[in-house]
Amino acid sequence: MQLAVIGTGYVGLVAGAGFAEFGNDIACVDVSEAKIEMLKRGQVPIYEPGLEELIAKNVRDGRLQFSTDVGSAIRGAEVVFIAVGTPSAEDGSADLSAVYAVAETIGKTLEGYKVVATKSTVPVGTADRIRAIISSQTEHPFGVASNPEFLKEGDAVNDFMKPDRVIIGSDDARAKEVLRHLYNPFVRTSDRIHLMDPRSAELSKYAANCMLATRISFMNDLAVLAEKLGADIELVRKATGADPRIGPKFLFPGPGFGGSCFPKDLSALLYTARERGHELSIVEAAQRINARQKHLLGEKILAHFAGAGSAAPPVEAQAEGGTRGPLAGRTIAIWGLSFKPRTDDIRESPALTLIDDLLAAGATVQAHDPQAMPGVRAIYGGRVMMSDGMYGAVEGADALVLVTEWHEYRRPDFKRLHRIMNTPALFDGRNMWEPDELRGLGFSYQSIGRP
Ligand code: UDX
Repeated sequence: MQLAVIGTGYVGLVAGAGFAEFGNDIACVDVSEAKIEMLKRGQVPIYEPGLEELIAKNVRDGRLQFSTDVGSAIRGAEVVFIAVGTPSAEDGSADLSAVYAVAETIGKTLEGYKVVATKSTVPVGTADRIRAIISSQTEHPFGVASNPEFLKEGDAVNDFMKPDRVIIGSDDARAKEVLRHLYNPFVRTSDRIHLMDPRSAELSKYAANCMLATRISFMNDLAVLAEKLGADIELVRKATGADPRIGPKFLFPGPGFGGSCFPKDLSALLYTARERGHELSIVEAAQRINARQKHLLGEKILAHFAGAGSAAPPVEAQAEGGTRGPLAGRTIAIWGLSFKPRTDDIRESPALTLIDDLLAAGATVQAHDPQAMPGVRAIYGGRVMMSDGMYGAVEGADALVLVTEWHEYRRPDFKRLHRIMNTPALFDGRNMWEPDELRGLGFSYQSIGRP
């Protein structure tokens, strides 16, 4: 099949490369000339394991092309996928201006029947709006479908190639059939394809993300209580997840969820609900708990050093014209800046909240991340010191905070850490390390929800 994918962000690139891999001919287009030029040179603007290879292979085989010519991509395609960004507007609603602009272009370009499918996460009712916009531009027939994407960053290629469900929402029987045909090779049994109306398809995407985010917030909230009760959230998590009705996934307490999807989708669904006069209290609570959770590590560090009291050297630091605040003179090291491992994405990352809290408290911040340091440097400049090596970031630190659970942080050389730190305090935001082992080695150790 000949397909056009509009938008070369995460979703667009992975979908374009994935469809090409299954033998389709794809034109991936974007308004950004710089991005398209990069892609033509074989450079992929995002870090996603396996994606660069998949793109290179399909470009080489002639099935995948990049261009800024939206018109000719649309003209040549049987199906046009809209995969442009839908950022959060000020009021929490999804900003759909890019989606609507593409719909208008499609309307102007249409010369015969085409399927127009949204891959971007869009509010319920968007398919209807898209249909209206295209209709206002053309007499030609077309079908609109909602085909939300469920890929996770860091595992996106795999998720796309082996989806656990494909959702096709349309009122147009022909569009449903075309998309079902396109997706058949991706699913071994077609009962993983769910055919429905567009509104249910659009809501299904929000339902999944809000449910997952709610599970995380529930465990994060329970972790705070567990600490107060002297219970161990890790034991509670395993015992709870052993119930097959609950299952073990997405129950890991941590520093709060981030990324480009959960925070944005929660806000957007809450906005939609409010518009309809409905209070979606559970999702609201999940959002509120997450906002609080992102400050938890910073609060623990402040409390720790407030307790350490007179051992602090803040007066000297202030005299040098340095920073002021309860952590002045303290150096805090951070391991992990991306919102999760295997990505360089720092959008809504809890590490950024932590950095803000630490800087506001007057601390010196040193950080390491295998992929995300350039992004953080672009925001903070010289206010956060970056180290090429993970141990370099910890040199002379008064505390080390594990924020993102990259593989290399899971079993570090703790004796070396103890040697190079100024004061041996560990804050484990992902419950990766063994409390007893570390206390045995002479560390002060705190985690999320463990006694
Ligand atoms: C998510 C959805 O999983 C995916 O289906 C959808 O298409 C896009 O949004 P993504 O944002 O890439 O994917 O990351 P995900 O792996 O879901 O993690 C989101 C956040 O939740 C991360 O910050 C992660 O650290 C956090 N998380 C996840 C937890 O804190 N605990 C968990 O148990 C799981």
